[in-house]
Amino acid sequence: MEMEIKVVPLPEEKKKAKYTDESKLGFGRIFTDRMLLADWKAGQGWGDARIEPYAPFVLDPACLVFHYAQEIFEGLKAYKWKDGTIALFRPEMNARRFNHSAVRMCMPEVPEELFLKGIEELVRLEMDWVPGSEGTSMYIRPTMIAVEPVLGVKPSDCFCFYVILSPVGAYYPAGFNPINILVEDQYVRAVAGGTGEAKTGANYAASLKAALEAKKKGFDQVLWLDGVHKRFVEEVGAMNMLFAYGDRVVTAPLTGSILNGITRDSVIKLADSLGFKVEERQIDVNELLLDINAGKVTEAFGSGTAAVITPVGSLSYKGETIPVGNGGVGRLTRKLYDTLTGIQYGKIADTFGWMRKIA
Ligand code: PLP
Ligand code: COI
Repeated sequence: MEMEIKVVPLPEEKKKAKYTDESKLGFGRIFTDRMLLADWKAGQGWGDARIEPYAPFVLDPACLVFHYAQEIFEGLKAYKWKDGTIALFRPEMNARRFNHSAVRMCMPEVPEELFLKGIEELVRLEMDWVPGSEGTSMYIRPTMIAVEPVLGVKPSDCFCFYVILSPVGAYYPAGFNPINILVEDQYVRAVAGGTGEAKTGANYAASLKAALEAKKKGFDQVLWLDGVHKRFVEEVGAMNMLFAYGDRVVTAPLTGSILNGITRDSVIKLADSLGFKVEERQIDVNELLLDINAGKVTEAFGSGTAAVITPVGSLSYKGETIPVGNGGVGRLTRKLYDTLTGIQYGKIADTFGWMRKIA
């Protein structure tokens, strides 16, 4: 479907002061000058795609999103290469996952063309905001919200799709250093048949209490176990988890309750190409901890757009803290980080065809 995207002029007085120090960006606190918007109405479909000056929304307090959390989002990044090229990492995967989430949440699918062209055009207009120093990028946050003002519980009959941009540094303040994880044995994030596989805000709201309590105890994140038996390893708050057993890499299968991570998929392909055997299988937490203790698990790390590859130094479960390997950054973790970021920043040949140059 051909959809024209109107570009609303950005008046001089609406231009923000740009950040001056790329080393102090942090994650998701600064937003650029413009945003992409489009509206969907029942019976009419998508329309009024436009790029406007970034501004707060005026929304009716009764809007369904505020009451029943009908909303989905995505996360992807644009990278600035040394030669000035700007490139997106596998954006079509985000477009597809966004629509997968939309179907689960009874929301309209966004035409892939609008999703991809809209992001490309927006990022191109905001090119000057893309940071270029190591470990920085432009985080792209596509979102869809239910904006019908009605209190009955039902799918909305109108939606707003929008995309905002945030120049970012590392997600974890520690950067590429091991984090310590609490295996959560009380709260659960998602269950099979629920919404765990959808990238929807409610999953994150449901995770806050456990994360807060873990933080108070000194942990960086929690590792979720399956919601039924509290026995099988699922994922971490903002990343999928992988474990190296020597030359094997093990990760939880996609059974509906965890996010189908695009970094996870990329890491599986990279590990495979490096000669590792990748197993997607159920991981019993008791066996995992025995294997870590016995030194069979050589490395543990998380994967995610924001988290990139994050080494895990220890797991704590029911009061016992077990270091993984020597508690530092493992060889495979380092290699995967270097290879993945090498491709993303145009320093290593993109043999998988993952990068989409847009400027
Ligand atoms: N799991 C959860 C719950 C997430 O929020 C994320 C972040 O997007 C991931 C996994 C990793 O997914 P991706 O690699 O596509 O960013
Ligand atoms: C991402 O990695 O894109 C995420 O969505 C993680 C988080 C910031 C929620």
